[in-house]
Order: sequence, then C-alpha cells, then structure tokens
Amino acid sequence: MSVDDDLAQAEKYPDGDLLAILYRQHADIAEALDRVTHSTGDERSANFTAVTAFMKKHETAEQQVVRPIIEETDRGEEADARNAEEQQADQAIAALSALDMDSFEFDAQFDQLKAAVAAHAEAEEHNEFPVIESSRTVEQRTELGRQFLQAQAE
Ligand SMILES: [Fe+2]
Repeated sequence: MSVDDDLAQAEKYPDGDLLAILYRQHADIAEALDRVTHSTGDERSANFTAVTAFMKKHETAEQQVVRPIIEETDRGEEADARNAEEQQADQAIAALSALDMDSFEFDAQFDQLKAAVAAHAEAEEHNEFPVIESSRTVEQRTELGRQFLQAQAE
C-alpha cells in the first residue's frame, strides 16, 4: 500500500483508534525509509538511525498489543510469521549498520530491507487488521491505541 493509501485508510477510523495509529505509522515508516534513500553522508546516517529506532518501537508495541489479539483468534501461525519477519528485519538492520552508508552495498541491501518492510506491512494490513477490526469495538480499539502508544513510549 502506498503512503497515500495508508493515510486514506487511517482517515476511516477515529483518532486514537489502534487501526488509525497503525496505518499512519506504516505511512510514516515508508516515508522515513525513503528519506534514507534520498540522502547521503551524515544526513543519511541520522535518517537511518531515526527510522530504525522508530521501527523498533513500532515492532515492540505490535508484539505487545497486536499479536496477542491475533493469537487468541486461533491464527497463531500468522502471529508467528509476522514476529519472524520482524526478527529478520532486525538482522538486516544490524548488517546494514556495519556497512559504509554511502556504498553501493548499502544501497542494494537497504533496497532489500525496504521491500521486506513493505511486504511485512502489507501482510499485517491484510491478515491482522481485519481481525482487529472485527473482534474489537471502536471503544476497545481506542483503549488498545492508548496501550500501543504507551508501549512505544517506554
Ligand atoms: Fe506494523
């Protein structure tokens, strides 16, 4: 889903609804990854540090707030697949951190990470978000949104 599509989806839910927060953060992450691609030197390094730190907080909060909902609806294999993808992204980020950020190698590996992150977000949006939407009321999703933001702030 494109940044614009994610933002349009976010608009369908009330502010504070977990789904509005998740769609908006997926758009934010895609934009922040593009900022790395389109910068060089110290600026690229700062952009890379910022986006990877934000992705880590996003993933950790999803693991705490989203995955238990998916597991309870008997789709544990979905939760396991998403958690495994997040571990792979962590490993790809660690490998990228060791490279010269202005090298061809970094560009190539970073493009792979971007594609993997986009596929991961797509899988969440197709397989997890409908479960959250159908199994929780707006009030419950607003409470979950609050928990998600709190988990990110820790
Ligand atoms: Fe996500």
